[in-house]
Amino acid sequence: MWGLFALGFVIFVFLAVLVRIVRFALADADLTLLSKGGPKRSEVEGKVAWITGGSKGIGKELARQFVGLGAKVIISARNLTDLGNVKAEILGRYPNAEVEILPLDVMSDEEILREAVKKAESFFSSAGVYYMVHNAGDDPPPKRAAEITWEEALTTIKTNVLGTINLTRLIVPFMIKRGRGHFVVIGSTAGKCPAPSQSVYSASKFALNGYFHTLRSELIQKGINVTVVCPGPIASKAVAYGNNDAEEPMPTDRCVHLTIAAATHNLKEVWISNQPVLLVMYLTQYMPMLGYWFMDKIGSNRVEASQGDSNTSLMTMLFGKTEEKTGKSAPLLQ
Ligand SMILES: NC(=O)c1ccc[n+]([C@@H]2O[C@H](COP(=O)([O-])OP(=O)(O)OC[C@H]3O[C@@H](n4cnc5c(N)ncnc54)[C@H](OP(=O)(O)O)[C@@H]3O)[C@@H](O)[C@H]2O)c1
Repeated sequence: MWGLFALGFVIFVFLAVLVRIVRFALADADLTLLSKGGPKRSEVEGKVAWITGGSKGIGKELARQFVGLGAKVIISARNLTDLGNVKAEILGRYPNAEVEILPLDVMSDEEILREAVKKAESFFSSAGVYYMVHNAGDDPPPKRAAEITWEEALTTIKTNVLGTINLTRLIVPFMIKRGRGHFVVIGSTAGKCPAPSQSVYSASKFALNGYFHTLRSELIQKGINVTVVCPGPIASKAVAYGNNDAEEPMPTDRCVHLTIAAATHNLKEVWISNQPVLLVMYLTQYMPMLGYWFMDKIGSNRVEASQGDSNTSLMTMLFGKTEEKTGKSAPLLQ
């Protein structure tokens, strides 16, 4: 009798573990985010979302999905024509959508940024920005850390870090006055783990984690929230780097769906990526020695793969054999 009971218990535990392993193997985001379900329309409808970098890629899709959920949207980027095209596309699909264009270079001086914030606050009968979506980013071509020039480093840090921090500084007083606001920060898996061939980009995304988790700790009691989103390779970028069968990039619309789900469920930090990048994220977070060992093992091969014509799968890189394929390999952690 006890023997049967023990056997049943062992089988139950075995199956429970198996289900979790399969679930993790198929996961395209951290398990907390996946347990929450989709975006909550009630948290978006009627609110104003200002999206930087809203003219292309992830930002353009963010604008489309925010509008689809009933938000009033402001899109910013440097290229006015691209912004106009995005607005026209959205209005083609949602004729009643409320979309404003606000051209802006986030690297601009404080006065220009201050004017942009004032303008964003004044749109839609001065409703004020609720979701400030920091998405504009500089993602330079892969290069070894020591070969990155001062100018290249400056552009990446000014766009991804200083511009984002400055806009935040300037809009926070408006949010505090209203007692509500939510920063959605598009970081990267490269902001949590080493990213061979993307050193300054990685540094810039690590910086965003530090700044925004601290900002939340200071302002959450004033009604201001922060969601830091860390995506891995996303389809829009993978086109530029070619294909790598071993690291399937995520479709942009799926990344954005999960991003809005994270924000509307008020999660503090989420990881959005297919495997094996998601596994590397978990390893680096929960077993850093193993995660760093793994990245040290593949780092150098990874840089060569991202710069040359060969394309390497994770396993061949780990064990030192290079597969010859066409097209460049995307950086492992975007
Ligand atoms: N795609 C990926 O695989 C991936 C993975 C992880 C994280 N991310 C992050 O996701 C964000 C969006 O990436 P994406 O792939 O969609 O990039 P993208 O297609 O290159 O679009 C970048 C957007 O940012 C704008 N932008 C660039 N510099 C700017 C500046 N100085 N001022 C204002 N706007 C600027 C661009 O428009 P203009 O050039 O007209 O200004 C464009 O709208 C970035 O922060 C990126 O680091 C991307």
